[in-house]
Amino acid sequence: MTSTTRPTTWLVTGASRGIGFELVRQLAASPQNLVVAACRNPDKATALKALKDSAKGTLHIIQLDVSDFDSIRASVKQAQPILGEIGLDYLVNNAGIALRDTAFSLDPEDLLRILRTNAAGPAVVSQVYLPFVEKGHTSGKTPRGKSDKIQQNLWDSSGFGGFGMTTCRIS
Ligand SMILES: NC(=O)c1ccc[n+]([C@@H]2O[C@H](COP(=O)([O-])OP(=O)(O)OC[C@H]3O[C@@H](n4cnc5c(N)ncnc54)[C@H](OP(=O)(O)O)[C@@H]3O)[C@@H](O)[C@H]2O)c1
Repeated sequence: MTSTTRPTTWLVTGASRGIGFELVRQLAASPQNLVVAACRNPDKATALKALKDSAKGTLHIIQLDVSDFDSIRASVKQAQPILGEIGLDYLVNNAGIALRDTAFSLDPEDLLRILRTNAAGPAVVSQVYLPFVEKGHTSGKTPRGKSDKIQQNLWDSSGFGGFGMTTCRIS
């Protein structure tokens, strides 16, 4: 990549292991990519930290706990020096939890924890990173079209954004 070539930029939550880690591993193998790997405990993300040494693309690790809304908002300060000028092409809201239960035996506190982590947290991530995504649009990389319509439907939802999001995730 020459200094004048704009990289494709990615932010992946839940990058410490599983699908998030594998996605980051594959993205970081290309010099074309700038990857922001977000995890709730970077100190313990040893495999992710080890990737930094072998990455052919640019890899940054930031702290972000999707179940902690303050942590999500605070993560923007870490992302700003990385993405502030260039913007964000792809936001991958990957972090999530799955608990073993059934609809008839579940603990409602667990259900609320799942909703917080898998629905409310990603919504806040999308809210706070939207300016970076918009910056990505204006710096000419992210394709416009269908994604704009999805975003518009999700966030406008005739004034029932939260309702729309929960029914979308649950049904
Ligand atoms: N694998 C499947 O078959 C499947 C099917 C349907 C949906 N999904 C969804 O796909 C996503 C990834 O699945 P996976 O199989 O890779 O799951 P996984 O192996 O359990 O990994 C989950 C990742 O999410 C992170 N995470 C969990 N809670 C978090 C929080 N509060 N803040 C930040 N990070 C958090 C974990 O970080 P820590 O290391 O800190 O715990 C880990 O990096 C999840 O959202 C999952 O629900 C997976």
